[in-house]
This record gives sequence, structure tokens and C-alpha cells, in this order.
Amino acid sequence: MNILIKDAAVLLPSGEVVAGNVAVENDKIIAVGNAPEHFAADRIIDGTNKFVVPGFVNAHTHASMTLLRSYADDMELMDWLTQKIWPIEDKMEQKDIYAGAALAAVEMIKSGTTAFADMYGPYMEEVAKVAEISGLRAVLSRGLIGVAPDAEKKLAEGIALYKEWHGAANGRITVMFAPHALYTCPPDFLKKVATVAGQHNAEIHIHMSETKTETENCLKDYGKRPFAHVESTGLFELGTLAAHCVWLDDEDIDIIKRHDIRVAHNPGSNMKLASGVAPVPRLLREKVTVALGSDGASSNNNLDMLEEVHLAALLHKVNELDPLAVPALEAVKMGTEYGAHALNLTGTGKIAVGQKADLVLFDTDSAAWYPRHNLVSLLAYSADSSSVDTVIVDGKILMEKRELKTIDEEKVYYEAERAAKHLTGKQA
Ligand code: NI
Repeated sequence: MNILIKDAAVLLPSGEVVAGNVAVENDKIIAVGNAPEHFAADRIIDGTNKFVVPGFVNAHTHASMTLLRSYADDMELMDWLTQKIWPIEDKMEQKDIYAGAALAAVEMIKSGTTAFADMYGPYMEEVAKVAEISGLRAVLSRGLIGVAPDAEKKLAEGIALYKEWHGAANGRITVMFAPHALYTCPPDFLKKVATVAGQHNAEIHIHMSETKTETENCLKDYGKRPFAHVESTGLFELGTLAAHCVWLDDEDIDIIKRHDIRVAHNPGSNMKLASGVAPVPRLLREKVTVALGSDGASSNNNLDMLEEVHLAALLHKVNELDPLAVPALEAVKMGTEYGAHALNLTGTGKIAVGQKADLVLFDTDSAAWYPRHNLVSLLAYSADSSSVDTVIVDGKILMEKRELKTIDEEKVYYEAERAAKHLTGKQA
């Protein structure tokens, strides 16, 4: 389908906002500014009072954890995981994974997310089905717990996920291998994952250096800091998306740069779990790719990427007592362009000719968007995601005028509530 977005304000990769059109042919942007002559649009979208930006990329989440939203809050990370989250996750069945992922998909599309990196399991194929049906772009991975008695089975599921879904849905779905973290995966297991991922030419998605305790325990157990320890297993040879990266020293940052590791920064989750503040301004200065993620909905508690953009812009200012630490445009790029790079989504993340048409149209006809001195500033500091009007992924309209086109929203809410009540032992 060919789409013409007419007379909109359009955010260019340079940060400049231009008035004009965006022409989409099939899955790609073919013109920005003026539409080409003789462009036959199947659909014309009126861009009056619309701000067109690249779709948000959620670089680290656990989609089906939406079912655990508001189930356990205000706890220490390890208590939260061992006493509340892991026991209830053990009870999750195939249909629960689907119900949670579908709820996540509704929330993501309605808040302007067009791509997400997910680490969860079992039954990751259910998340893949949701991505396929919803139209979202997804980088999926079966979370691997090396200390679990069925670690081998989980790895086999990761391989099966890769074989069945990598490159599926017109290339919208790709698959990585995801050893959960160094404290759940002993070094021999990490080496095994590195070997298996290497055999499939797949990349890695892992939690790294999230808490101070993780770093201290790694030093105690292995005599090395987390990045040096994991580097010694060979895992970083394959291309890595590392979530959190809060507790870093000079050596860690050298390793991140040496292996071109892409960082998924999760300001909301890090603040809520009191994990610490990642050295994001320094990483950005040193040309490390820093993307933004929501983490799971039970540690955030939503999947709203504009909120993460807002938090990233504010958190580092106050942390460094520097109002220039992460400017508005840089925060928006972390949520869009850098996210696409972090997920290895070639040809997405920018509004430019030849890029994939993953676009979000904000309706700027509300109080938060007036007066319009600077649309990028309004986006990062003033607006919220309720003004997301239209979402396009791979040239397909997933939402228009806030109406979802691929998902039955009411049914998803009903099924999610039923699944959550069943999981916590209440009557459906
Ligand atoms: Ni996580």
C-alpha cells in the first residue's frame, strides 16, 4: 500500500523539523518534503496538526510481564525476583504468555512504539505470534537460566525459536540468544551459549551490571568485574545488546567500546528498583550506542517509551548537576534512531528516503503542544503518549486516530485480566 502523509511537521535525523509530506511505498519511505510527481497514494493522511517522528524502539523489555504489573512493588531486586516474580512466573502457561504479550502490544502501539526487544520464556513463540499478528517489529529471545536444572531444555527452546522465527513476518521478527545474566549463568554455560549463538550467526541480549551487588559478587566469585568476566567466555564476540550497564568503571567502558556493545538504558526501572544511575552522558560522549528500554512492566510499571525519553532527559541532568547532560533531541534519538541501531534493525529508526516506514504521528492539537516554539522540546519535555494518533510499521497502519487496526483491544484486556487472576489463584 502507498501512503501519503500530507502537510505535516516532520522530524529529520538532523533534528530539524520541516513542513511537508512523507511518501511511503510499500514498506519504505520514498520521499520526505515534496511527494514525487505521479505518486499514486492508496491512502492520504491529513498531516495538519500532526508531528511525524520515527517510531519508538523499546530496547529492553519482557512483554508478558505486563500480567505482573502491580503484583509486587517497592521491594529489593533479589527479594522481588526470588519471593514474588520467579515463583509466579513458574506458573505461567502458554496462554498466559500470549495474553501478556498481547496486552504489551496494545500498550506499545498506543504509546508509539514500533519495535521492541523481548527476553522471556518459555513459550516465546507466543510472543512471536503476537508480533506477527499485531504488525510490530520484534527482536525476540528465549531467556536462559544456566543454573536451572532444565538449562539445556531452555537452550534448545532458544535454538528452536531462532530456527522457526528468525527473519519471519517479512523480516519484522528477528531472534537473539539471551543468557539472562552472569549471576544466573555460570561461565561454562555462557561459553556454551556463545558457541551455539555463533553457530547460528545470532547476536546476544543479556542483563549486565544492573546492581552494585552483582558487581561485588562477580568480583568475589570470579576475581573480575562483570564485563571482564563475560568477555572471557567469548560471549561478546557475536554482537551484544546489554541491558542496564549501571555500574561501570573505565575498564568496563573499554570493553563495551572494544566489542561495540549496544547499551539498553532503562531509567524508569533503574529508578524504581533503586539500581543506580548509568553513566549515560559519558557513554554517549564516547560514542557508545545507548538506547532506551522500559524493562518489564512489573518494574516500571508501563511500557511507555516517551516516558523513558522524558526520564532519560531529566535523570542525567540532576545526577550530573548539568542541565546540558542529555538534551531533548539526544533523548529522542536514544528512544528511536539509537534504539534501531541497538537492535540491529538495519534501515530503520530515521525519517529519510530508503528507510523502513516505521512512523508515529502525534496529534499536536492539545494544550501540551502549545505554543509551538520547538516541537522536539515539546515532545521530550511536555507531551505524553496519549497524543499518539497514528502508528505505521513496515508501511502498514497499525493504529489510526487512536483506533487499533490489528488487535481487538477489549478482548485483550479481558483475557489479560482473566489470566492474571488465574495466576494469582483468584477466580476468573
Ligand atoms: Ni530486564
